[in-house]
Amino acid sequence: MSAIVQLENGITTFRRGEKLFQLEFISPTAIRFYETGRKESYAIAKAPSPSQEVRRGEEEGENALFFGDLSVHIHKSGLLSVRYKNIPVFREKPYQAQNKESDLSAEKEGHLAKDKETYTVGFGIENNRPVYGLGDKAGPLDKRGYDFINWNSDYPIPHNEAFKSLYKSIPFFSMFGEACSVGVFVDNTFKTRFDFNKQDKDGIVVESCGGVLDVYLFFGSLPNVIAEYTRLVGGSALPPRWALGAQQSRWSYGDAQEVEEVIAKYKESDIPLSAVYLDIAYMDEFKDFTVDEKRFPNISSWLKKVNQEGIHIVPIIDAGVKAETVYPVYEEGLSINAFCKDNGEVYHNEVWPGDSVFPAFNSSYTRLWWSERVADFLDLGFSGVWNDMNEPASFNGPIPNSVDMGGKTHAEIHNVYGHLMSEATYLGFLKAGKRPYVITRAAYAGSAKFAGTWTGDNYSSYDHIRMMLPQLCGLSLSGYSYVGVDIGGFSGDATCELLVRFAQASLFNPFFRNHSACDTRSQEPYAFDEETTRRYRDIVLTRYELIPYLYDLLFLHQKTGISVIRPLIYNFPKDPNVVNENTEIMLGDNLLLAPALFPGQAKRSVYFPCGFINYFNGMRYGPGYHLIDCGLDEIPLFVKEGSLTPLANKGTHDTDFGKELRLLWTGGKAFAYHYEDEGDGLGYLNGEYNLYLFEIDEEGHLTITTLNEGMVGKYEKITVDHLGNDLE
Ligand code: GLC
Repeated sequence: MSAIVQLENGITTFRRGEKLFQLEFISPTAIRFYETGRKESYAIAKAPSPSQEVRRGEEEGENALFFGDLSVHIHKSGLLSVRYKNIPVFREKPYQAQNKESDLSAEKEGHLAKDKETYTVGFGIENNRPVYGLGDKAGPLDKRGYDFINWNSDYPIPHNEAFKSLYKSIPFFSMFGEACSVGVFVDNTFKTRFDFNKQDKDGIVVESCGGVLDVYLFFGSLPNVIAEYTRLVGGSALPPRWALGAQQSRWSYGDAQEVEEVIAKYKESDIPLSAVYLDIAYMDEFKDFTVDEKRFPNISSWLKKVNQEGIHIVPIIDAGVKAETVYPVYEEGLSINAFCKDNGEVYHNEVWPGDSVFPAFNSSYTRLWWSERVADFLDLGFSGVWNDMNEPASFNGPIPNSVDMGGKTHAEIHNVYGHLMSEATYLGFLKAGKRPYVITRAAYAGSAKFAGTWTGDNYSSYDHIRMMLPQLCGLSLSGYSYVGVDIGGFSGDATCELLVRFAQASLFNPFFRNHSACDTRSQEPYAFDEETTRRYRDIVLTRYELIPYLYDLLFLHQKTGISVIRPLIYNFPKDPNVVNENTEIMLGDNLLLAPALFPGQAKRSVYFPCGFINYFNGMRYGPGYHLIDCGLDEIPLFVKEGSLTPLANKGTHDTDFGKELRLLWTGGKAFAYHYEDEGDGLGYLNGEYNLYLFEIDEEGHLTITTLNEGMVGKYEKITVDHLGNDLE
């Protein structure tokens, strides 16, 4: 008996066991299948409409549907398999729940508790291919052999590969194939487990504790698969250009004077600085949307003064709201029913302010109210908002699953709580007429369109420098481009050498912020010795040269879904040596960073998939493995041969567009897109920007085509800077 029930308006209804499912072709390279009745999504930026041109037929005696590059077979069991350009690339496996009891005696000894959930909905996939993505999860780039759990978690201990959950839940991963990769997005907000070839060496299992199956599959090259997913859920919003500069934070700069000292010391040390963050101590008793008058008197005029010096101030705003009468945010929230409830009563737990309540962000009414609070707060003169503790974290035991978070239970909303808080905050910026600049710790698929993110509370250790490269690539391959880490490490004490290594390895991180916890050694670049200050300055100055290229990539990411930072496999899919390369990272197509990852390291092996040139001295390296110098004074930065990269002039301290643009050319025929706007504000959304295409031929003749002319351009001079000796 055929599993297909009907095909109507491009939607195929089919039977799988007792249940009815539907299947849609959302593009010539992507399908969605879901249990009937499923409608809403927290992730999707714009709901796709199913193609009406689906053909139904038979292939090898089974029901098949054809559209674009895909043919989808619906087997009698209701399981699917897919061919891309006639190559079999995807096959579901029968699913059996993998629930098992945890070992209580192991837990008693303090081992991490095993997962004891009951999984009710899931599916299996045949797989032997490398697996990438799944957001911020720890462990290697290729996730095969591991299992992970999506349940946003704040573990205040040094994270390592044994952690199955971290702060974010991004249920998207890609199975890599040279001819065709398959991206899988399981749009389910309940606790979800991913077993990548661990229990079953030939397969993947994805299972959730609730909801229904709603799966999107994308087919094509790895970059295309990620880009199509990214466009579906919305990639990172374009940050203001100052947000690509060097940022400084500390839990907590205690008062206005201390912040001014930081700014002054950066200046004295001749290190560019674009923003300082205010951690929880700026508030009056940790109450959101308040400022401690004693520590920060006349905040508005102070912010004006600091802004005039070119420094942006970004305050933290936490999820928990202090439960205290005479605190307007609490009282107002109570009066409009804006907080989470348990059995009809407002739910309380404990966070930094002590007894706290939590905005019911699933309610659009609560989000609207919050966005107004944000807009008012921004009017004081703040440039961004740092959203934290929004897993949501709670100090007095976990929040019960039954708590009502705005019409839905905590079990369903937990993984999107940070997403919804970010959305409300983002809305506040639009209300205030500002380009949104939001940083969030917790996230779900599609949160990037509201907020950038960092990897949370890392540690001042070399382990965490090593961990950051695959972790940031995991985020990047999950549609998240404005990402970074706490440079120098959050917990623990940094040393001179560690800080330098952290900063070097973070050179490409779009979010470049030094941050550390209270009770740790001061970690500002000038807090150590002159050598450390000089080295940090060199790194930051190099970083400032890269800002035009970074901004171009972030613009293109937002428009097309391309990734900004990338593992090598993204750019070199035919090269088997980079399938699980965890120690090098690329920025766009052109730049490669191979940072030192161990104390005392003077040399390291670097793999170049093609010819690369040392950024600083023009030395050329052919494809293959090379031993390179990586002493403390070396930044192992390389430029691909035959490329053109828009850069700022050497030595600039400015994140704004300058009058000059430098095109770094490494010989051969090459091209680059370049984006120019006001660097801040919302005008670019109305087309107020210029987009250029630069093309250069073998002889070095440059042609400039303006693809979009939406403003008066600022460049007075565009120079070609030739790197390498191949033309000499
Ligand atoms: C959390 C954040 C950290 C912040 C601290 C105090 O641990 O992850 O960045 O400094 O809270 O607000």
